[in-house]
Parts: sequence; structure tokens; C-alpha cells
Amino acid sequence: MPNDKVFIFDTTLRDGEQVPGCKLNTKEKTELALELEDLGVDIIEAGFPVSSPGDFESVTAISKIIKNATVCALSRVVQNDIEVAAKALKYARRPRIHTGIGTSDYHIKSKFNSTQSEILERAIQGVKWARNFTDNVEFYAEDAGRTDNEYLARVIEAVIKAGATTVNIPDTTGYCLPHQYGEKIAYLINNVPNIDKAIISCHCHNDLGLATANSIEGVVNGARQIECTVNGLGERAGNTSLEEVVMVIKQHKHLGLYTGINAKKLNPISRLVSDIMRMPVQPNKAIVGSNAFSHSSGIHQDGFLKDKLTYEIIDPVDVGADESKIVLTARSGRSALAFRFRKLGYEFTRNDIDVLYKEFLKLADIHKEIKEENLVELAKEYQSKEISVA
Ligand code: KIV
Ligand code: ZN
Repeated sequence: MPNDKVFIFDTTLRDGEQVPGCKLNTKEKTELALELEDLGVDIIEAGFPVSSPGDFESVTAISKIIKNATVCALSRVVQNDIEVAAKALKYARRPRIHTGIGTSDYHIKSKFNSTQSEILERAIQGVKWARNFTDNVEFYAEDAGRTDNEYLARVIEAVIKAGATTVNIPDTTGYCLPHQYGEKIAYLINNVPNIDKAIISCHCHNDLGLATANSIEGVVNGARQIECTVNGLGERAGNTSLEEVVMVIKQHKHLGLYTGINAKKLNPISRLVSDIMRMPVQPNKAIVGSNAFSHSSGIHQDGFLKDKLTYEIIDPVDVGADESKIVLTARSGRSALAFRFRKLGYEFTRNDIDVLYKEFLKLADIHKEIKEENLVELAKEYQSKEISVA
């Protein structure tokens, strides 16, 4: 069912790269763009060409090397921005211009000192300028999350009429609750007469930790593109995390949706982005954090060792992560201890483990984690009968 594909629009190189300290040079950007294409993203937002000569050069270089994915450049609805974006995309096999303007009262009044009708005209004009260069034009209604739905619907109808083929509904400030964002998408589907002529895109920020949930509500309600970044990097608290939305869609087959992403590459690309942008991934990050497949409490470890599905909904192999880990801490149990000894080649009886476990707990109360070398030492001491059976 072709309508059930969710297009993955990666903006690691644009919204992600806006994070202080994450700026990349052309060589780094092209290296990452090739990996993103290999991962299977449909659209690569390569940069904002008018913003600096370096970014212009990067978008040009990416346009030259990307074969299958669409290469997208950001602009405001400013003629020069659009012309520069088009120039940077000159060599792209599938170019897209992403242009737009703020539509909430905060933007219209405070940022532009303007009116709804003036902003509507500027939006239409911007899309028309972009259409002079390509028939693949995406329009963003910045701060759509806080834009009145009735006005938003009028803007979206007008820009589609002017030639926009994708309409981006950003929750720029990460303000919406999932049901509100979903209702916004549903409102547009029900109230924009020409909505069937464009793909609706979700672009959610994570200020309240809701970016993934909001994007999923968006596609459940009919959007078919998600804008996201590897490791959820992006302005302030970040953007929707690519690995999270891809895996939500993959794990919840009942949604009837799919993406073109090769999930086995999720962990390798996460590491690459973290290295290249010098931005560590939090250990408890879903899918790609170092603890995402670690089990440390006795109850969890016991259940996991009996049947891994008890405590794991994703096989780490499926997302290119290292195998699940049984971490030994003072909260671990006997089965985990026996398991880790077995992995080191020690086959102890239940009675042996009872004795060893007491010694293990004494050590674990001192150290945060009991490592392989501590276990070997414990086993050797025990075997040489230095630890006597109580
Ligand atoms: O968050 C946002 O609104 C944006 C737009 C420029 C698409 O990043
Ligand atoms: Zn954004």
C-alpha cells in the first residue's frame, strides 16, 4: 500500500548542525550525507545556503555526490535566499527547496510586526519564486504548533495552490501535546480542500520531551513525512529522534506504516554522528544509548535470562547494537552472577553460587559495577578455597 510509507526527512545537517559546537565543515557534512543515504533516508536537508559561504559550499558538494535521496536546502521566503538555495542545489539529481515563514501570532506580531494577510501573501510569493527553480517545493509554517488552525488551513491551502508539494507543520517550540498535534494534522486534512495535492510533514521539537510522540500522532492522523535528526540533535532540547520514530513505526506494525530505513545501521550512524559532532549520547537514550540493552537489577536479569522478551522489545542485533548486557551491581541477583561466571568459563553449582554471591555483594557494595577482572579474581580465590563454605 504505497500510501503507508512514511518519508524520512533527515535534518541532522541543518537543524542538528545548528546546535552550538556541532558545526561541521564540508568534508564532514559530505561524509555524513553519504551515510544518511546509505541508511535509507528519503530526503537530506543539507543546509541553509544563504547563511554562510561554508554552508553554500556544503550544500553544493552534497548535491554533487548524492544519487538517490532528495537533497533539500532551507530558505526564508526571501527572493535572494531562494535564488542562493537554487544555485547550491544546481547539481542535485533530486533538488528540493524548503521555504517558509512564521504563522503564529508570536511570529506575525512580534517578529515581523505584520498581519495575517501580509504573511499569507509573502508565503504565496515565496513558493512561487521557489517553483521557478524546481517542482519539488516544501513550505514550512514556522510555529504551526501555536498557530490558530483556521488561519493555518488558509495558509496551507494557498501555498499548495501556489505550487508547494510538501507542507511542513512545525511544532517549532515543542509546545503541543500529542493529541493536540494529531488534531492539528486531522484538521488540515479535513479543512484544506486541495490537501491531497501535497504531503503533510511533521517537524517537532523536543522542549517538553514530546517530539517523538507528536510526530507519531502526526502520521497516525495522516501526515506522511517526519523531519528528524540522528540522536535527536537540534535547536535547544533537540528535534524528533530519527531512530525513535523509525523503531516506533517498525515495532508497532498495527499502525500499518513503514519507512525505508535500514534499522541495522541505526547504531553505527548514531556513533558516527556523536563522534563527528563531538556530542556524546546520553546512556539511557532509546535505541542508541549505551544502556539501551543493559539489564542490571536482579528481578530484570532473572526474567531476561529465562526469556529475553520478558524485558526487551527490540533485539539489539536489529538496530546494529552490541548484544544485550547483564551488568553486575549490588542490585544484581544470583542468576546474573552465575550467567556471567559461565560466560567466563566457570561452571559453578548452586551451592557454590550461594557462597560466591555473599562475597560478590560485599564487593558490589564498594564498587559501582563488578567487572570481568573482579569476577575472575573471585572465582580464583574460591577455587583455591580461600573463601570457605560457611
Ligand atoms: O523548527 C522549525 O520551525 C524549523 C523550520 C525552519 C522548518 O526548523
Ligand atoms: Zn526546527
